[in-house]
Amino acid sequence: MTDQDFIPKPYINTVKSGSFTWASPSNIALVKYWGKKEHQIPENPSISFTLDNCKTTTKLSFSKNENTNNFSFEVFLDDEKKDDFKPKIETFFKRVEAYLPFLKDYHFKIETSNTFPHSSGIASSASGLSALALCLMSVEKELMNTSVIPSAVEESQNQSFFIQKASFLARLGSGSACRSLEGDLVVWGKHEKIEGSSDLFGVKYPYEVHDNFKNYQDTILLVDKGEKQVSSTVGHKLMFGHPFAKERFTQAHDNLAKLKTILASGDLNAFVKIIESEALTLHAMMMTSMPYFILMKPNTLEIINKIWKYRAEANSNVCFTLDAGANVHVLYAESEKEAVLDFIRNELAKHCQNEHYICDHIGLGANQIGF
Ligand code: DP6
Repeated sequence: MTDQDFIPKPYINTVKSGSFTWASPSNIALVKYWGKKEHQIPENPSISFTLDNCKTTTKLSFSKNENTNNFSFEVFLDDEKKDDFKPKIETFFKRVEAYLPFLKDYHFKIETSNTFPHSSGIASSASGLSALALCLMSVEKELMNTSVIPSAVEESQNQSFFIQKASFLARLGSGSACRSLEGDLVVWGKHEKIEGSSDLFGVKYPYEVHDNFKNYQDTILLVDKGEKQVSSTVGHKLMFGHPFAKERFTQAHDNLAKLKTILASGDLNAFVKIIESEALTLHAMMMTSMPYFILMKPNTLEIINKIWKYRAEANSNVCFTLDAGANVHVLYAESEKEAVLDFIRNELAKHCQNEHYICDHIGLGANQIGF
């Protein structure tokens, strides 16, 4: 497939106005995407667990617009107008306009809310942009609707194209957003051992996964709720000319191949090693870029050390991962839930801002609301 496959045929319907609502979750990468080429093409493949509780709900209302030269839209977060969100959405609209040629024909009202606090340090771009991409796909579906009832096979093809294009669009907004549409594991980026994997969109992990990974838990420890000093977008750019870039991209391919074996065998011991190494390598890339930067905080390291100690003492397989920030994602099997939650409450919560943490687990992806 190429990006040309996402340019639609001329629309057959005219629709004056309407609205669609989608809820889409966040995701946490196990093998990290860090470094990209032009047009949001990743330098290496990544894989993530889709989350369940951390999500964004977006209602997109649209009405026919006479002015067709500019994008016309307004954005609200929790019913409050958010003009500072507009530049990111304007950039997104520009990037996807060729694939959604109706964008300038409508005025859009985007009303969004997150289940997690906005100032939690949890990035809402993955959940937010995937929810918006899905709403836009619902508009397109309406514009393409024919009165002909599709066969079951056509319906399923249409449905998988809908998700694929939504993921393609979400990627153009924020790379990791393309991994939020489905569950429970999603791969983005071409990998020779993962059938159907693509640089253009996320695909559901296509192989059987061992029961050990069913309903895996992710407790997010909110170490620092402040705005990050360096955005992911800037961080990705620093992989250009990075002295370790080539090795890092090769390592990500190798780690994903190893993870494929681990996901099948259920080897939690091996899982922990790959996951933590990926997290630390991500931050090592930040520390060794020019300019260099550190997103971990003293409490991030306190938590990591306590996890290592607990793991050794309790003979546990709990592990951590990090995204581009100071917060720690504590990952563990459902069978360890009670013990690890006790450990978090007693030992780790004190290292979080206001003792705040969010309990989440693997989820099944986005869903449309109220239709
Ligand atoms: C460290 O997807 O936020 O979380 O494509 O520039 O929007 P943009 O970046 P973004 O980068 C996410 C980086 C990461 C790793 C990951 O999720 O794979």
